[in-house]
Amino acid sequence: MKFKHAIFEKNSIILLVGILLMVSVGGLVEIVPLFYLENTIEKVDGMRPYTPLELAGRNIYIREGCYNCHSQMIRSTRDEVERYGHYSLAAESMYDHPFLWGSKRNGPDLARVGNKYSDEWHREHMIKPSSVVPETIMPGYPFLAESDLQFSQIDKDIKVNQMIGVPYTDDQVLNAVADLKAQLDEDSDDYDAFIERYPSAQVRDFDGNPSEITELDALIAYLQMLGTLVDFSIYNENENNR
Ligand code: HEC
Repeated sequence: MKFKHAIFEKNSIILLVGILLMVSVGGLVEIVPLFYLENTIEKVDGMRPYTPLELAGRNIYIREGCYNCHSQMIRSTRDEVERYGHYSLAAESMYDHPFLWGSKRNGPDLARVGNKYSDEWHREHMIKPSSVVPETIMPGYPFLAESDLQFSQIDKDIKVNQMIGVPYTDDQVLNAVADLKAQLDEDSDDYDAFIERYPSAQVRDFDGNPSEITELDALIAYLQMLGTLVDFSIYNENENNR
């Protein structure tokens, strides 16, 4: 055996062919099973597609380029987990098209910013960040509170997400506009139907101005939901038991 191996060591072409063979076999073993698996993302309880209002908020987040300064992916290193909470799971961004993991952090990670601050805090912070964090370099977005949210096409947006694999039901597509309005008003007649379609959705007026549906409503609804869908007390318990 020792002697035979010398063939590879003394002839670079044979070595190259040997390497190619090894890498191809290794590659096939890793890649071929993926064609037979339907899904490589581990299922996690609590994940649901975005509500129409959250989706509209996400669109504003993308439009304003918030991802240029904020990531939405907590890594599994200790410093990240201590600062931001449980590291991000693949399932938590499985309904994101496109995903917003980001690659730059001028500001903190936002993957679990939901319920960390009050709506009032977000309102102040979005209008003038330095009013709540004096040393901040984040720009203000005061126009969001004054801009009416354009949502007449939100059903089409949901339909497209459905086409590319997000498990929205036809019912959710049909009722998209009604659901968007229902999330802003606890007393609306559509409340029960809405909560049935989107369990655990937060329902209230987010921008402090119930008479108008603004872009700030949508953006805060989105931010307050981030990272709140999965109940991590279950996961942390399992980890402590190891
Ligand atoms: C120029 C970079 C920059 C941009 C663009 C930016 N931010 Fe920030 N953001 C920051 C910085 C820096 C902080 C930390 C200081 C602070 O709280 O203002 C921050 C903080 C935040 C926080 C509080 C996070 C926490 O855990 O304390 C939220 C929420 C937030 N930003 C949302 C947004 C949204 C939404 C947008 C887009 C509309 C946006 N940011 C755009 C830089 C930015």
